[in-house]
Amino acid sequence: MTKIPYIPETAPFTLEQRAWLNGFLAGLFANGGGNEAPQLNNAPANAGEPLPILFGSQTGTAEGLAKRIAKEASQRGFAPVVLALNDHTQADLAKAGKAIIISSTWGDGEPPDNATNFWSWLQTAAPRLDNLEFAVLGLGDKNYSDFCGAAKKFDSRLENLGGRRLVPRGECDTDYEATAKTWVDGLWEKLKPGANGAATNGHAVHTNGHAGANGHAANAKSAFGKTNPFPAKLLKNVLLNKPGSVKEVRHYEISLAGSGLTYEAGDALGVVPVNCPALVDEMLGVLRCTGSEPVSVSNSDMPLREALTRHLDLCKPSQELLAAIAARAPKCELAPLLASERRDELKKFLWGRDVIDLLRLAEKPFPPTEIVPLLRRLAPRLYSISSSPKAHPGEVHLTVSAVRYESFGRGRKGVASTFLADRIGDADCVKVFVQPSHGFKPPANPDAPMIMVGPGTGIAPFRAFLEERKAAGATGKNWLFFGDQKRDVDYLYETELNTWLQDGHLSRLDLAFSRDQDAKIYVQDRMLENAAELWAWLEAGAHFYVCGDASRMAKDVDAALHRIVEAVGSRSADEAKAYVAKLKSEKRYQRDVY
Ligand SMILES: Cc1cc2nc3c(=O)[nH]c(=O)nc-3n(C[C@H](O)[C@H](O)[C@H](O)COP(=O)(O)OP(=O)(O)OC[C@H]3O[C@@H](n4cnc5c(N)ncnc54)[C@H](O)[C@@H]3O)c2cc1C
Ligand SMILES: NC(=O)c1ccc[n+]([C@@H]2O[C@H](COP(=O)([O-])OP(=O)(O)OC[C@H]3O[C@@H](n4cnc5c(N)ncnc54)[C@H](OP(=O)(O)O)[C@@H]3O)[C@@H](O)[C@H]2O)c1
Ligand SMILES: Cc1cc2nc3c(=O)[nH]c(=O)nc-3n(C[C@H](O)[C@H](O)[C@H](O)COP(=O)(O)O)c2cc1C
Repeated sequence: MTKIPYIPETAPFTLEQRAWLNGFLAGLFANGGGNEAPQLNNAPANAGEPLPILFGSQTGTAEGLAKRIAKEASQRGFAPVVLALNDHTQADLAKAGKAIIISSTWGDGEPPDNATNFWSWLQTAAPRLDNLEFAVLGLGDKNYSDFCGAAKKFDSRLENLGGRRLVPRGECDTDYEATAKTWVDGLWEKLKPGANGAATNGHAVHTNGHAGANGHAANAKSAFGKTNPFPAKLLKNVLLNKPGSVKEVRHYEISLAGSGLTYEAGDALGVVPVNCPALVDEMLGVLRCTGSEPVSVSNSDMPLREALTRHLDLCKPSQELLAAIAARAPKCELAPLLASERRDELKKFLWGRDVIDLLRLAEKPFPPTEIVPLLRRLAPRLYSISSSPKAHPGEVHLTVSAVRYESFGRGRKGVASTFLADRIGDADCVKVFVQPSHGFKPPANPDAPMIMVGPGTGIAPFRAFLEERKAAGATGKNWLFFGDQKRDVDYLYETELNTWLQDGHLSRLDLAFSRDQDAKIYVQDRMLENAAELWAWLEAGAHFYVCGDASRMAKDVDAALHRIVEAVGSRSADEAKAYVAKLKSEKRYQRDVY
């Protein structure tokens, strides 16, 4: 049997790096890095039992995890098949016996795009699933009020349809690796030959454990990934708006030289931000500390200043911090808002307030070793890549709006967007990783038409798509809807877009500048003005893409698309819904919204 090498605890790596390297080696050797068939010491013979692993994923995290679980499943003798939830018919859940579902949540508690058809089916058309044993793992973010909402819905509906839980639903926050690992280990325990019965209750597990492996297939050959990001050199930082704009959107060019990292048009780049030193100083002032106090973050010892600068979120408070402040200062205005029925009021209260505002409510400062575990880990931010690797080998470009605002008398800065804009000096690097998308890509058929709707920074992936198609010589027609506030100062990538329009690479470019006239004009208004042609493109097999603001724009564009199908395609409201659902299931309607 192949022996899987193991990095010992004494090796000079952090816990996360060691976990990643061990996962990498396990994957390498289990996949035939040696010459023999993969086996694990504790691998029971599950004799090729089929195991559908279905994922709902917008930006690839749940998809990556599903693939890693599949790898473990085959090492345990199962025959896993990994599918997007919208492709569930291929797994035939009524007959499947067992199924594992891994899903993120988007919007406000909604399933990701590649799970919406599955959710409609589950609600309205699914048969009884009395023979199904299932397990649901949710990926989410506790900052959202409906934490892991999609996973909760799937889990409870599958139970209503007669399915039996193998293990209680798992719910992972943004630092999902440890919770996911513990949940998956529990699942394998349950699936061991001889282990008995399905779990009965739907209570979620939130547990701790070791970090898992990195696992992005696209970058299997690179040593760099989410848990070991690449220190990249920033080559260019160019302001795209002209003087007089109220916006600050910047174009960045970042070198991937020496990283071994690869990407495709449609992928996102993860950026590991560093907090602003002035904010760290302010926080140290509130804590009445110097910064040299020793603390520990994820088992690594460091001075408090280092922890606050690189590891901890100084903006969004954790639930634990809110509770600790309320316990210290029960009379403060925050305390009564923590009652579950006052959730909406709490949300309003927290809007525009950061950790420092909240710490000022506590009557005396928290000591360093008490505050550190109460703060959230500083999470990486994702940015849609705005370049094609064919057009810019070894580079990755981003189009980022700098978040700056004033709130409760203090100037505020978005952590990552202003880190990129202001704080990467010439000598410094930005730590990055590639987050593969799960299908948000230009059409595989080079002749297929594509329609792209991308106002504001939503233009980013479409610059990449257009570069990609140009470099590949794809002949399909390209139509872009772009908009922003004012044409004179906010027309991002104007020169490039006009060159493509003139040379015919862009067949159509429709612009919606919202603040150049009294009444707002948005991209969806341009879609409706051109409804007949848009319908004709869809009927000719066009792929329809949307990128940018999720809270309003993407919803309004979706509504406009339905209206066009109804009005020009002569469909009833239900038929239009079915038409759009079919576009999604054919992967011809893809979104990258945030
Ligand atoms: C898949 C994906 C792709 C993305 N692509 C892009 C892209 O191409 N370009 C891009 O610019 N962004 C993109 N984003 C968004 C990006 O990831 C960050 O969320 C964004 O840059 C803000 O991060 P930050 O760290 O600068 O701000 P943060 O420190 O995270 O601060 C932002 C937060 O500040 C608060 N806030 C903001 N404005 C106000 C206000 N006026 N009043 C009170 N509170 C406020 C809100 O709570 C907001 O969530 C993408 C996101 C995803 C998920
Ligand atoms: N959650 C929010 O409230 C909110 C709002 C805006 C931006 N953002 C975030 O700010 C960042 C940068 O924004 P951005 O530069 O990408 O673009 P943006 O600020 O969203 O604006 C781009 C264009 O879209 C228009 N727009 C506003 N509402 C729209 C709607 N319902 N339908 C269609 N278009 C609409 C804007 O017009 P007007 O501005 O003139 O209305 C502007 O012309 C993103 O992260 C975005 O998510 C968040
Ligand atoms: C625009 C947006 C909306 C989100 N909405 C929710 C939500 O309502 N509930 C939740 O638990 N998580 C929410 N999340 C967090 C994602 O579910 C989480 O980041 C997840 O790891 C993404 O996995 P994926 O890459 O597989 O899509 C949201 C994230 C974004 C960017």
